[in-house]
Amino acid sequence: MTRVIDGKAIAAEIRSEIQLSVSSLTRNTAIVPGLAVVLVGDNPASQVYVRNKQKSARDIGMNSMDIKFHQDVDAATIESKLDELNQDESVHGILVQLPLPDHLDEKSIIRRISPMKDVDGLHPENVGLLLAGTPRFIPATPAGIQELLIRTNNNPSGKHVVVCGRSDIVGKPISALLLQKDKSANATVTICHTGTKDMGEITRQADILVAAVGIPELITADMVSEGVVVIDVGINRKPDRSKKSGYRLVGDVEYDGVLAKASAITPVPGGVGPMTIAMLLFNTMKSAKLTTD
Ligand code: GUN
Repeated sequence: MTRVIDGKAIAAEIRSEIQLSVSSLTRNTAIVPGLAVVLVGDNPASQVYVRNKQKSARDIGMNSMDIKFHQDVDAATIESKLDELNQDESVHGILVQLPLPDHLDEKSIIRRISPMKDVDGLHPENVGLLLAGTPRFIPATPAGIQELLIRTNNNPSGKHVVVCGRSDIVGKPISALLLQKDKSANATVTICHTGTKDMGEITRQADILVAAVGIPELITADMVSEGVVVIDVGINRKPDRSKKSGYRLVGDVEYDGVLAKASAITPVPGGVGPMTIAMLLFNTMKSAKLTTD
């Protein structure tokens, strides 16, 4: 029987674990972990994500600071705000919501965040630490995927993990994370991307398939083998006139078809999404604790 992985419930469990750490840190040191979230422009999906991140932070006793810029803001204005946040002792985590508008260079803006406050794990120093096997902040979505696998008894050790997608935010870091020589990783990892000739031939070899391509329902039933564990990272809006909003959310996996073959699968929504937020809070807590070392 296929197990539908309840990311919402597992994320709630993790958030309550972090809440306990927050209250003990605050009781013992008077430090309240603080998360600053920077949003540029009015991308509706980004607005929802940012609101959810902030609410979740406040719900577990953290401070959350909200910094919004107009779509046309210049890089210098954002960078000077980041310099200010880097200096602010009440801020332990800084997140710049991506994607940024086209006129801004994401990589140079991310580099401006102090690596000690980069709770998204995207600064080159943190990317390097992850690859070196000594991570400081593991990017939230990959960290969430690893937790989901462990907490559902699907330890990736010795398994063939096929990752579809090579983004800086998911594909590259989940590959680096799961290939580490560590009891919760230790996988054989193959990465497919737009240059891959026959993706199906490779995805059919997967024990665990991570779909992070950003293309609605790209992974179909014929591309997976019986018993595969499927982690669907995609969150895509598909027009649906029967919905009040005019759309419904679908992943990168054609859910009904793949569900019939998988031994376990994450739904969209309610799979990876809530885990990303939980692990961001975990990193913010870790950053606050690092200031006490
Ligand atoms: N946009 C989509 N996912 C993420 C994320 O995990 N972090 C940031 N900063 N932006 C995102």
